[in-house]
Amino acid sequence: MRWIVVTLSVLAGACEKEAGRQAYVDSGCGRCHGSDLSGTRLGPRLTDLKANWNVETLEAYLARPEAVRGDHARLDSLARHFPAPMPQFVMADSVRKALVTFLLVSSP
Ligand code: HEC
Repeated sequence: MRWIVVTLSVLAGACEKEAGRQAYVDSGCGRCHGSDLSGTRLGPRLTDLKANWNVETLEAYLARPEAVRGDHARLDSLARHFPAPMPQFVMADSVRKALVTFLLVSSP
């Protein structure tokens, strides 16, 4: 019985990560952050997010980047390195959650 529970939760995690990867592609995040998250001249790499973010803070930032950037010196100076700051994306909370799972799981 236990292995079924473990297998199901691993599968659920894998599905959410896959849904998040899809949201990353569908939203066009790769246009600025690269299809492999390694960054472009329009946006920073997203490969080391765990150093600065957790699930709650990253969800809040993606929901309203401008509000978070305002009192966040690192982000504010990061934004200045690029032609335009991180835009706000409208998406369902469940999609944003999956996106955050994908980003944090992909970040070593
Ligand atoms: C038009 C270019 C552009 C697009 C499209 C874009 N971003 Fe960004 N993103 C940026 C820039 C520039 C920053 C630097 C910080 C800022 O401006 O707030 C950033 C910062 C970030 C950060 C914080 C990076 C760090 O080092 O802490 C995350 C996470 C992020 N973006 C995720 C996404 C996701 C997910 C999407 C798609 C839903 C997306 N971005 C779409 C330009 C973009």
